[in-house]
Amino acid sequence: MAEVKFFGGADMPLEMHKVRIIQKLTLLPIEERLKAISEAGNNTFLLKNRDVFLDMLTDSGTNAMSDKQLAAMMTADDSYAGSETFYRLEAKVQEFFNAKYFLPAHQGRACENIISQTLITRPGMIVPMNYHFTTAKAHISRFGAEIDEILIDEGYKATSDNPFKGNLNPDKLRELIKTRKEDIAFVRIEAGTNLVGGQPVSMENFKEISNICREAGIILVLDASLLADNLYFIKLREQAYKNTPVSDIVREIGTLSDIIYFSARKLGCARGGGICVHRKDLMEKIRELVPLYEGFLTYGGMSVREMEALTVGLDETLDMDMISQAPQFIKHMVDELSALNIPVVTPAGGLGCHLNAKEILDHIPQIKYPAGALTVALYIISGIRGMERGTLSEQRNPDGSEPLAHMELVRLALPRRVFTLSQIKYAIDRIDWLYQNRRLIGGLNFTEEPRILRFFFGKLMPDSDWQIKLVEKFKADFGDSL
Ligand code: F0G
Repeated sequence: MAEVKFFGGADMPLEMHKVRIIQKLTLLPIEERLKAISEAGNNTFLLKNRDVFLDMLTDSGTNAMSDKQLAAMMTADDSYAGSETFYRLEAKVQEFFNAKYFLPAHQGRACENIISQTLITRPGMIVPMNYHFTTAKAHISRFGAEIDEILIDEGYKATSDNPFKGNLNPDKLRELIKTRKEDIAFVRIEAGTNLVGGQPVSMENFKEISNICREAGIILVLDASLLADNLYFIKLREQAYKNTPVSDIVREIGTLSDIIYFSARKLGCARGGGICVHRKDLMEKIRELVPLYEGFLTYGGMSVREMEALTVGLDETLDMDMISQAPQFIKHMVDELSALNIPVVTPAGGLGCHLNAKEILDHIPQIKYPAGALTVALYIISGIRGMERGTLSEQRNPDGSEPLAHMELVRLALPRRVFTLSQIKYAIDRIDWLYQNRRLIGGLNFTEEPRILRFFFGKLMPDSDWQIKLVEKFKADFGDSL
């Protein structure tokens, strides 16, 4: 994070890296974009990447890698068992999190499968957490437990000036322990809380929750997938840690949890994942499932090349220049959109810029998926692919009713070191136009609705001819422009 002031006084992010490998992009004409999204069932997950201009779907496995990561991939030691690559990674993860044991897995949700299966031992159990992530919830439910979200109240507010909206409410946790201690399978705390807008958890909160769990003898599981952004926010927003090296902060967080798991598609800018455990008995239980689902203990479903890249990527996560890049770009986008009075999640978090579709499209009821409709509309008018994070991403109740999401968000993820500032400016410009024309946007209805994780494969259609009207207005305003 370079302390560079601009002569003109502008508050601008400044990249501390340069681009050395590029991928050519195309921006299709609007008519072709409309055709592509219709063929994709109005679901941005089903778009082909060749039809996308700026892919802001996710930061998962799409972060730019460094020259050092690519170089390390060439030194990988290919072997089913006992690969040198694994021992390098194991040592790095142990040092990084100050953890005793490391078990590899092919990605984050694989860790969720294994941890849930190990710790949910009977029906009727609960897993208190600051907030769910889709795959974590799916695995916990699959093994018969219920999640209990005890995020601080402020976390549910789209706009706020609370710097740590991802915090878990300690009073509610104490209350739960008083009434249902025996039923708690484990407590899950998610760094950089994804579904409420990439909002961080403070060190103070980590410590308090850890103390409560230790006193009660309850296992604390940390989902560290989005830890990189969270580390940056601790340094930036938590006075007591202003001068603490990032490496010390991670090691302290590491010792506060019994189990840490992560998606290396996010943390470490590679592709893979893993589970760290402090206790030998727990490690032995979890270890049994790794060869069953993932692969032998010295690769766990990861390619050796990705493991080498991850080892270097974790080291680079300790560099403020690296972990500040995406949050600073996100802040720029959030500040510019806020200045245009466009409702976005504040304060700016990690992962991406989140548009508040509940407010932007307050004429569309939640059962018509306003966040889904806004995501589709944005693709049509800009070629930008975002992700719906609202009711559409929820699962129907067993009686068929819709559990309305707390928030209706369009997530515009900014994978680390991928986009340039002019691409961000383009996104802001098109979102501004769309906001001015928001009343043209209508709702969506399912035509095909899978039972589990429906947002991945589900297909929808517009509830009127609103998309055609939107295209007409775009053509009227922009003429021949793409
Ligand atoms: N935990 C969090 C907080 C995540 O954001 C993700 C993935 C996972 C676990 C699962 O990890 O994808 O490696 O299996 N988030 C991606 C996203 C999919 O787009 O937000 P995974």
